[in-house]
Formats: sequence, structure tokens, C-alpha cells
Amino acid sequence: MAARQRQFMADASHELRTPLFAVQAAADVTLQRGHREEGEYRDALGLVADQARRLTRIVEEMFTLARADAGHLPLRRAPLYLDEVLADVGRAARVLAEPRRVTVELPAGPESPLVGDEDLLRRMVLNLVDNAIKHSPPGGVVRVGLDRAGDAYRVTVSDQGPGIPAEARERVFERFFRLDAARARDDAGSGGSGAGLGLAIARWVAEAHGGRLELVRSDAAGTLFAATLPAGPRA
Ligand SMILES: Nc1ncnc2c1ncn2[C@@H]1O[C@H](COP(=O)(O)OP(=O)(O)OP(=O)(O)O)[C@@H](O)[C@H]1O
Ligand SMILES: [Mg+2]
Repeated sequence: MAARQRQFMADASHELRTPLFAVQAAADVTLQRGHREEGEYRDALGLVADQARRLTRIVEEMFTLARADAGHLPLRRAPLYLDEVLADVGRAARVLAEPRRVTVELPAGPESPLVGDEDLLRRMVLNLVDNAIKHSPPGGVVRVGLDRAGDAYRVTVSDQGPGIPAEARERVFERFFRLDAARARDDAGSGGSGAGLGLAIARWVAEAHGGRLELVRSDAAGTLFAATLPAGPRA
């Protein structure tokens, strides 16, 4: 097995172990005593459901990357409008943002026809927006932008979070890399924290479309990611 693959397996088992352990512990502790109040069963099942959601997400992300590596994930290219994909993501993002009192701003972009894999592009943008929301302070603004420069579209996602330290700027694109690993695990109950695969997937999606994904700027004022996607011939 290649070293990279061995590392992937090791990281993957490690990531799966934590939520599995939480599920097992919740079930064991709840069943240990003969009788419990209904509320206790509800709490335990709530925890089990959260962890199951987290497991599903991690397994789905791993599956996507494994298939991408094996070359078994053909892009389903079709004509689409990038501005509509962004509007979709914006709607989904507001559901995540509201409980954190974060505002998602999505200025109406120009009509942006593109031939690409809509599902993967949606996931690319959603991963960026999900990160931006997760790292936003209460009251923060997440801004999604879309413009066309020459032959390429540029999709930007910015936040007003604490930023990413210089030494981690390239590492955030690595599989399973998490800056806030400890916090992410504690936060597992929210079902919102993943395995550190989102940016690896997002970068792969951009590259599979002949484009790229970069961290443009990150400091105490916030973070800005930009995906550049070749637009193809003008319609
Ligand atoms: N906007 C951001 N602000 C600050 N840190 C960020 C931001 N986006 C990503 N990071 C850091 O980069 C790490 C990797 O991000 P990535 O999206 O790959 O994984 P994740 O969000 O932890 O999990 P997943 O995306 O798999 O649910 C994050 O854990 C976080 O530490
Ligand atoms: Mg993420």
C-alpha cells in the first residue's frame, strides 16, 4: 500500500473511532440501569442521532475522495448557471447561519453560464461557506461573491473570523487537517464539525473543473478563499 494510502486509512479509522465510541458509551450508560426517565432516553438518543449524522458525513466525504483518487468519480458535466448554484448554497447556508446569528450576504452575481458538475460545485461552495459560518463570531458577516475576470469565474467566500495562522495556510487543504481539532471534537454534538476533509474536497472539485482554489488572505480581520473556474467560451 502506498504511504499516502496508509496514512489515509490511519487517519480515517481515527476519525471514525471518536463518534463510534460516543454512540457506544451513550447506549451502554443508558441501558446499564433498569429504569430511566423518558427524558434520559431522549437525551441519549439525541446524542446517538447527532453522532450518526457526523459519521454519515465523514463516510460520505471519505467516499468522495476515495472515488476521486481511483478515478471513478466521473464529472457529470452539464450546462448550468453558477449564479444559481450560489443562490442555492446561500439558502442552505442561512439555515446554518441563523442559530449563530451570522449573516450570509450574497449579492446578485451576473448571469454565469458554465459547463460543469452542479452537485460537486455546490458542495465546493457549501464547504467554503460552512467553514466561514463555523468560524464567524456572533453577529459576523459571511460574504459570497461571484465575478468574471477574462476567461474565468471567481467565486469568493469571506468571513470575519479569527483567521488561520501563517504556518497552517497550505495545510488546511490537506486531508484530515484541522486547526481546531480539540474544539471540533468537543463540538461534535452539534453535528456540524467534520473530519477535516471539506477543503481537500473543495480543492479537488475546483481542479477537476480545470480551476483552482486558494486561500487569498487570512488575518485577524477574517479569511478569504477564492475558487477560479474557467468559464469556457461565452454563450
Ligand atoms: N474560514 C475559516 N476560518 C478559520 N479557519 C478555517 C476556515 N476554514 C477552514 N479553517 C481551518 O481549516 C481546517 C480544515 O478545514 P476543512 O473544511 O477541510 O475541515 P473541517 O471544516 O474541520 O471539517 P469538514 O469540512 O470535513 O466538515 C478547519 O478545521 C479549520 O481549522
Ligand atoms: Mg469544512
